[in-house]
Amino acid sequence: MSVRTVRHFIDNAFVDAVEGGSFPSVSPIDNQQIAEVAEGTRADAARAVEAARRAFDEGPWPRMSPAERKRYLHRIADGIDARLDELARWETLDMGKPITESKTRDIPRSAFNFRFFADYAEHLSTRAFDQRAAGIFSYELREPLGVVAAISPWNFPLMLLTWKVAPALAFGCTVVAKPAEQSPITASILAEIAAEADLPPGVFNLIQGFGPDAAGQELTEHPGVDAVTFTGESATGRLIMANAARTLKKLSFELGGKSANIVCADADLEAALDGTVTGSFGNQGEVCLAGTRLLVQHPIYDEFVARYVERAEAMKVGDPRDPETQMGPLVTQEHMDKVLSYVDLAVEEGGTIRTGGRRLSEGDLGKGNYVAPTIVTDVRNEMRVCQEEIFGPVEMVMAFDELDEAIAIANQTRYGLAGMVWTTNLATAHRVAREVRTGTMWVNCYFVRDLRAPFGGYKDSGIGREGGDYSYEFFTESKAVVMKLA
Ligand code: NAI
Ligand code: MG
Repeated sequence: MSVRTVRHFIDNAFVDAVEGGSFPSVSPIDNQQIAEVAEGTRADAARAVEAARRAFDEGPWPRMSPAERKRYLHRIADGIDARLDELARWETLDMGKPITESKTRDIPRSAFNFRFFADYAEHLSTRAFDQRAAGIFSYELREPLGVVAAISPWNFPLMLLTWKVAPALAFGCTVVAKPAEQSPITASILAEIAAEADLPPGVFNLIQGFGPDAAGQELTEHPGVDAVTFTGESATGRLIMANAARTLKKLSFELGGKSANIVCADADLEAALDGTVTGSFGNQGEVCLAGTRLLVQHPIYDEFVARYVERAEAMKVGDPRDPETQMGPLVTQEHMDKVLSYVDLAVEEGGTIRTGGRRLSEGDLGKGNYVAPTIVTDVRNEMRVCQEEIFGPVEMVMAFDELDEAIAIANQTRYGLAGMVWTTNLATAHRVAREVRTGTMWVNCYFVRDLRAPFGGYKDSGIGREGGDYSYEFFTESKAVVMKLA
């Protein structure tokens, strides 16, 4: 297979790195190189920021009506749809997710991110404040925030990048985006699509490369950037916040999670099993929202765990290009080693591996980064494996008697991103939804979302919310215009 060349996209032109560097992107299927990628340094980031700055300060984009911007953004969405197969293939090749997931979820959702925010922006209004007695009338003007840096992770490469880029553009900002170094390819195809959609120069810029002391960090420190929207590890969020402090940037963070999945004795067990399997092993468990701590109520504990183990063992793990595959390889060898080291730690801490717990290396699988779906019981919530984010197909299972206990365990974590509860009792559902301190709580479902609803995390799982009005709030400035009535 030929190696694809991936460049930056700055001011509507594809360019190499200023300092000439590049790095390989490999496929987790066989660890062979699939792309040679421009390595963005601070100089490339600065160049892209300058282009975005000019486009914002002098160009037409922030001055257009939402309806005009919508025409461009719909062209991008149509472009994504037109290249669905190609984008899905590259996403799967680059980071290992099953092709069925790329094709039916990630890539269509990426197109929908553009349509949703383009349409949404057209229907917004602002508030007016009538204060006749004082002889004044005030109204709120919403204006595009400025130059936005969008820094995204590798687990849903195009879906999470577009979740940031689409609202930023729809609300009139200009953007410099940086995808994760492990999964650079689909973002660069998006740049080709944007080029064809004929956006004014500098409105959408894409740079490739690493974070620390490189392209990523420069985006968080450059005085020309007004805001950073970041999805990634909590530790990285902490660094970015410190680095961005000197230039007082507006920040939106979607960070890690260690969410509880609570299965009550009165649940529809079949539905709970489906959700639990998806919630622990979907996308190889490389999901911030994953329900990685499974809490099962005592009366059904043995039966539920037995059926869950059976379901894990029946999963088809293998080449993600095969439409039958349910779980592909982990993103890099390094990440696989980290995940396997947590399996060792689980055993050291006293856990029992009920299934999996090992690398799969039969035949061609040996060339890639495959880990069997892993279920661990006999763990306690204080253990490191129940507190730290593993970000792979490794589930910790605990039992509970009373709901109080499940809620307490769910809350004993520094994270607060998501959670699930499976019950047929309405009161139980409402109680768990209220008492677990977390950004999203799913009741008898998982992963489905309304893009108008707030998305983000409590505690170490994030700062701020995105989605619908929440994105509008983040990507705009609010101005009060105060008028004398007489
Ligand atoms: P990461 O934090 O290592 O990297 C994310 C992005 O930040 C990459 O583009 C990277 O190049 C960049 N970066 C790294 N250091 C930087 C720095 N000092 N300055 C600026 N940019 C920097 O995260 P990774 O490993 O790519 O993704 C996995 C993590 O992302 C997990 O912890 C997961 O929980 C989290 N995540 C959170 C989601 C959410 O919505 N809350 C969704 C998906 C992933
Ligand atoms: Mg890759």
